[in-house]
Amino acid sequence: MSKSIKLAILGLGTVGTGVVHLINDNLDELKRRSGRDITITEVGTRRQRDDIDPAITQNSDLMAVAASNNVDIVIELIGGTTFAKDVILQAINNGKHVVTANKALLAEHGNEIFAAAEANNVHVAYEAAVAGGIPIIKVMREALAANKIDWLAGIINGTGNFIMTEMRDKGRPFADVLSEAQELGYAEADPTFDVEGIDAAHKLALLASIAFGIPLQFDKVYCEGITDITLQDVSYAEELGYRIKHVGFAVRRDGDGDKAGIELRVHPTLIPQDALLANVNGVKNAVLVNSHPLGQTLYYGDGAGAGATASAVMADVMDLVRVLGSDVAAKHVPHLSFQPEQLSDTPILRAEQMTSGYYLRVHAFDNPGVLADITRILSDAGINIDAILQKPAHKAGQVPVIILTLPVVESQMNLAIEKIENLETITDKVVRIRLDELT
Ligand code: HSE
Repeated sequence: MSKSIKLAILGLGTVGTGVVHLINDNLDELKRRSGRDITITEVGTRRQRDDIDPAITQNSDLMAVAASNNVDIVIELIGGTTFAKDVILQAINNGKHVVTANKALLAEHGNEIFAAAEANNVHVAYEAAVAGGIPIIKVMREALAANKIDWLAGIINGTGNFIMTEMRDKGRPFADVLSEAQELGYAEADPTFDVEGIDAAHKLALLASIAFGIPLQFDKVYCEGITDITLQDVSYAEELGYRIKHVGFAVRRDGDGDKAGIELRVHPTLIPQDALLANVNGVKNAVLVNSHPLGQTLYYGDGAGAGATASAVMADVMDLVRVLGSDVAAKHVPHLSFQPEQLSDTPILRAEQMTSGYYLRVHAFDNPGVLADITRILSDAGINIDAILQKPAHKAGQVPVIILTLPVVESQMNLAIEKIENLETITDKVVRIRLDELT
């Protein structure tokens, strides 16, 4: 067997510890598959750990580990976007390949990091950054490389999906389920990233760049979380044959003028109950990709947790082990799948330019003509109603009216909602949730 490949792991949290365990458990398998011996030579950890093999050097100076002569591949698992960036650039500038699970860092600074990697003829691999253990990055960069991708839709935050599933199935309170997700190692260090949709937006920015060959543009992703979803809306949606899921969409819109561009959006949305994505529950993630000529393909699995993420980290390590010592530029797929000088400047559409169906919950006084007023406003705005459900009056003569619409540009919907809210018979703000048929 030729020279041993030396790994450094920076950060021994949930995922870092999971990688150490995976290597210990599956070392023979890793060696047989790669044809090389694989050794963790150093770990960068601020706190000394007594559960680590004494043959591994523990160093609290992570910048030194990233530059060490005793390391070929640096695995960054500390998270965050400041020190993690410095340490990754340190590794790159010292000729190390990097494997990272850091979606926030890549979504926000990936253009700079990938350029530095190209300049130093090293690779930054990031399978673990999106959808946990699902090998979606490899699929998008390699297996679908011959296809034109029209859109993708993904449940790409395990914590959020776990919370929504437990709320729907067991009526458990939000905070209670979130604590459990934290205990299980699913949630981000700052769990608002999970529940406000920011983590999903980071992942969507990465997927969209690979899908459409555009630079990373996290700042242009429209982002809504799950904190405002009520059990009442979950139950109305079910009654109408839909399920509310938190979904990331990257959609290419071909058209004239300002209609042409790319929609990047993460938000709760109604999807048909019989759609496969509607049945992705718990910590599972799934990404549905619609491409030409292949058509729709769906990728499904655990989206968070130590084992799933360690699996993705080590898949990247194995890829790098196979190409180490050869010309990386010649052998490796470009970071975003497209040649860096060929990235497209297709605009990312603003939220008002994006198109989707809507679920509206309107609270009105139970007076004659109320429904007619609402439907007239929608029809005047060219908005097509797909379904309507009026519940009996429940408090002080107020009736909840639930309306599902066909797809409409958001700016039109905004105007219509403003008019509805100005009606004297309307008692509350209109609740809106997007609706996507996934076809
Ligand atoms: N907090 C993330 C999630 C971890 O719940 O999906 C995996 O990226």
